[in-house]
Amino acid sequence: MLSEEEYTRALDLKRDLHMHPELSNEEYETTGKLKSLLSELPGMEILPLKTDTGVIARLKGEKGGKEIMLRADIDALPQTEKYESPWKSQNPGVMHACGHDLHTASLYGAAMALSGMYEKGGLKNTVDFVFQPAEEGTTGARKLIDAGLFDLIHPDYCFGLHNWPSVPTGKIVCREGALMSAKRNFEIRIIGAGGHGSMPHLNIDPIVCAAAVVQSLQTVISRNTSPLDSAVLSVNRIEGGSPANLVVDKIMMRATVRSLSEETLNRLLKRVETIVEKTAEAYECRSEIIWEERIPAVFNTPEMTGIARKIALRTGCEIIDAPPALASEDFALYRSTVPSFFFWVGSTPEGEKVEELHRPCFHADDEALRHAADVYIEAALTD
Ligand code: NI
Repeated sequence: MLSEEEYTRALDLKRDLHMHPELSNEEYETTGKLKSLLSELPGMEILPLKTDTGVIARLKGEKGGKEIMLRADIDALPQTEKYESPWKSQNPGVMHACGHDLHTASLYGAAMALSGMYEKGGLKNTVDFVFQPAEEGTTGARKLIDAGLFDLIHPDYCFGLHNWPSVPTGKIVCREGALMSAKRNFEIRIIGAGGHGSMPHLNIDPIVCAAAVVQSLQTVISRNTSPLDSAVLSVNRIEGGSPANLVVDKIMMRATVRSLSEETLNRLLKRVETIVEKTAEAYECRSEIIWEERIPAVFNTPEMTGIARKIALRTGCEIIDAPPALASEDFALYRSTVPSFFFWVGSTPEGEKVEELHRPCFHADDEALRHAADVYIEAALTD
């Protein structure tokens, strides 16, 4: 548990980060602040990480102890904050609308408490504190892994968490199975042949084709997915156009497809490929799909759920189950190397209006910081 002094210092950091949010891969000030705060803690070693942003720090435990990785994300979103508080964002158009400031401050709180134990000779496990950049675009975990994260650290277990506004403060979600969805983002390019708008017979119009592609893609959910399964496909951007009298050469679209089941996602990705290719062909266009990295589902195994429940129990919070979400988390990428568990920590005071993640009035309950820090601390003490 955090002492009052540790809580106050962690809360100061949360407020500071909230006022000075930074976008994915631009977390320079945040990284600097963390390095300076962490390097003041007894026993804390900052590990040489070959990325511009993000920090990995380590407290070395005793021989024979486990090695535990604790991960928090540190980036903010391109949004304008509308919630009024003395700690409102001072960076125009950037906001900690997902509460990563709370995650970062909680892990810093845990670092203080665990460093205190280390100083007294009471820390058995080695603890790796991973402050990960760029979670929002789900590219940061990959960046750390490619930069040699698992050459620097060799954890037995990895734990992460997200604040969860629809869960009241004081409750912790320990869900077994799929918690957050597998996803793949992609770009579609439809290439036609532009020309004067008055002569459609001489052109190949990619806009008409793109409209057909958008419509047809929706059928992969309604016609190719079991009604008992959860999946979503959204085309979220269409780019291309001209003055009214010109047929354009090319249209670009960006989309996301996700599911709680990897098998369902496999099927959907195949259908997307076929629909885009064949629809383009039917409209005499060419098509290209540029795939981003596939992010696996956040999946809590029964074994890790057993360990996680013991951790949550020691925090004194109420342990609950909750339905999964089709949001994604690149925390899922660590699981291919190390057994992992992902918690949701309640972050709206009981009875208060819920402001969801990524909303302009989102604000996480400060008390949730204590609980999140406790989860990290107890996770670090896993036998
Ligand atoms: Ni988030």
